[in-house]
Amino acid sequence: MIIFSFPSTASLAQRVGSLVKAKQGKLHYEKFPDGESYLRFLTPVANEDVVLFHTMYVNQNEVLVDLTFAVETLKELGAKSVHLLIPYLAYMRQDVRFNPGECVSAPLLGKLLRCADSVVTINTHLHRIHHLNEVFSAASENLSAAGLLGAYAKKLKLHDPVFVGPDSESKPLVEDAAAICSADVTVLEKVRLNPRNVKSRLVDPPSLKGRDIVLIDDMITTGKTIEQAVKLLKPFKPRSFTVLCIHGVFSEKALPLLQKLHLRTLASTTTIPNTHAKIDITPLFAGLIRKRFGLQRKVI
Ligand code: R5P
Repeated sequence: MIIFSFPSTASLAQRVGSLVKAKQGKLHYEKFPDGESYLRFLTPVANEDVVLFHTMYVNQNEVLVDLTFAVETLKELGAKSVHLLIPYLAYMRQDVRFNPGECVSAPLLGKLLRCADSVVTINTHLHRIHHLNEVFSAASENLSAAGLLGAYAKKLKLHDPVFVGPDSESKPLVEDAAAICSADVTVLEKVRLNPRNVKSRLVDPPSLKGRDIVLIDDMITTGKTIEQAVKLLKPFKPRSFTVLCIHGVFSEKALPLLQKLHLRTLASTTTIPNTHAKIDITPLFAGLIRKRFGLQRKVI
């Protein structure tokens, strides 16, 4: 089995490859002067199982083209199988035609990447689509980093923590993370007014006074969901707010907005490179590769 990576995930692929003792392949990737992508696999792939890493933020449109070209090229070069490991899988939220005439992007990803033998990602948005193999091939998997968030929170030595989900969709993620810390869970109700604004409310509030709150979400984009949640919970006089998310997209003015909230800690996983990416997802992918290809843990 050979591991390749685009530059966005080079260090992740290196760490995973080193843990599972897999061969690292060389992919030459650069841009033509007009912005088009140039790809060349320098390591032969004929009859090999290939794992290819790339993440879909920033420049998700460009990444999609690069992934499509890469998979098709690997198959043309005779790879036995091609597995895409995409820590952040974009375009999954538009999973139904909410308004007449809209493009439903999620199933189209499956069509564009149809040559891939599997697509593996982390906590992608699966709500109306229930399993990744409704979009991609049967061997595809949506791994969960909930345990990694819980383990990170545990190390913070919080006082009587309450894990809070900002909306009903976050409930399973919050419960799984809270279980690691044996912490209480509460979930807010959220209505999205438009792509940049939300309104939250708390039904049946638990006692929060003097306790450390851990807000957990699958992704932070504009930061408005977290801002609303903090504003709603502050009057209950908790001791502190920690915010943990899987995908730190942090678009537009999200980071300055979150800074104003005086959070005790803000951390995301490393699915998207950013200054708050402190929760390493290497073990998830290493575990997947070991399970799928029967490779050994590196003995140090
Ligand atoms: C919504 O379904 C997601 O779970 C997140 O709550 C949402 O994407 C966060 O977006 P924003 O940071 O823009 O409020």
